[in-house]
Amino acid sequence: MALDIVTIEQPQFKTVLTTPTKKVSFPLKEADINLIEAMKETLFHLNGVGLAANQVNESKRILAIYIPKEASLLRDDAKPYPMHIMINPTYSPIDAKAMEAGFEGCYSVSHTMGKVPRYKQIKVTFYDEEGQLHQRTEQGFYARVIQHEIDHLNGLLITDRLTKDCVQGSFEDMLALRRAELSPEKQALFDKLRAQKEKSNAPGTEKK
Ligand code: NI
Repeated sequence: MALDIVTIEQPQFKTVLTTPTKKVSFPLKEADINLIEAMKETLFHLNGVGLAANQVNESKRILAIYIPKEASLLRDDAKPYPMHIMINPTYSPIDAKAMEAGFEGCYSVSHTMGKVPRYKQIKVTFYDEEGQLHQRTEQGFYARVIQHEIDHLNGLLITDRLTKDCVQGSFEDMLALRRAELSPEKQALFDKLRAQKEKSNAPGTEKK
């Protein structure tokens, strides 16, 4: 069953979105397994790209990532990824000075989006659903998504990362700006994806 996403504009969900989530222990409990299945279904329904457990009102260090082909085509630094789960994930920058600003929207933030500065390259450590530990160096859009989602698990939103000097604004203004910065071919794809999203009643494009 697809779950409802909670937003920072709903006062009753401010605490779950702004409080660091709790570590998950192995072997996974039945409630955790059920949550993971429901998160996958929710993210499929939204057509990607990232979802943290506290965005569905569960304070647990679990996130799902799914980058569909269409979403990856809009960016030069993205490739598709199948649905996968990260449990108790952490990241650290490879070079703390190497940062890049890129457009980000968030399912849990309705009133604003913008160009969020993120580390270009990170080391990510996480457990998969079987309790296997993974350590990888990641870059590009995928590394951006991981940083956005782990921020969620640490109680941080894009509004905490968008400092005064960052490009930011209303959802409509930022979509228009984002579209204007794309090549004509990518603009056509952008319009097609937007139309699909509107039809499926899911707001925005490749949100996290
Ligand atoms: Ni988000």
